[in-house]
Amino acid sequence: MSNLVGTSSSERNSGEGFIQSKCRCLSIIVLGASGDLAKKKTFPALFNLYNKGFLDSYDVHIFGYARTKITVDDLRDRIRGFLKGKDEKSEDASSFLQLIKYVSGSYDSEDGFQALDGEIFEHESLMNCGTNSRRLFYLALPPSVYLSVCKMIRNCCMNQC
Ligand SMILES: NC(=O)c1ccc[n+]([C@@H]2O[C@H](COP(=O)([O-])OP(=O)(O)OC[C@H]3O[C@@H](n4cnc5c(N)ncnc54)[C@H](OP(=O)(O)O)[C@@H]3O)[C@@H](O)[C@H]2O)c1
Repeated sequence: MSNLVGTSSSERNSGEGFIQSKCRCLSIIVLGASGDLAKKKTFPALFNLYNKGFLDSYDVHIFGYARTKITVDDLRDRIRGFLKGKDEKSEDASSFLQLIKYVSGSYDSEDGFQALDGEIFEHESLMNCGTNSRRLFYLALPPSVYLSVCKMIRNCCMNQC
């Protein structure tokens, strides 16, 4: 992810370059957020980036998406125990978990993906992203649904820039 911005290695190590870079307003969407890979690897990896200063809470929001009907607090509780490097009860873990939202929907119908797009767009509007919005999709899903999910992303969730 550090390759997304043009920073020096010292800036990358401190995270400062990312925060000051012109690339702002990033939405990270984890599809299959209810699953094993997401909770054990994906969210902890994002937490690690957050701790190192590569994800700035002013610019970044994280959206979990899956079919399971859970609340965002349920999702945060599932993830909390897997956040490594710092005490999961620490202020850092809590502020990281607050960046996460959750949308429930299927992988093969447009309703859920339109709801997801609406949530992302709301965040982008609040942040005044304008033409600087970026959306990064991570598929923590079985390959059997990749094709359908990619079609849905293309049809419903591309940014408007
Ligand atoms: N777990 C790991 O540590 C790990 C490591 C390396 C690679 N992987 C690979 O990463 C992918 C995801 O792994 P995972 O362990 O997270 O799998 P998983 O928990 O079985 O699936 C992830 C999520 O996908 C949805 N899902 C599961 N089966 C589905 C199906 N047949 N059709 C549609 N949706 C389905 C479920 O969410 P909803 O029902 O809520 O939609 C589930 O929570 C797999 O290809 C796996 O081989 C996993």
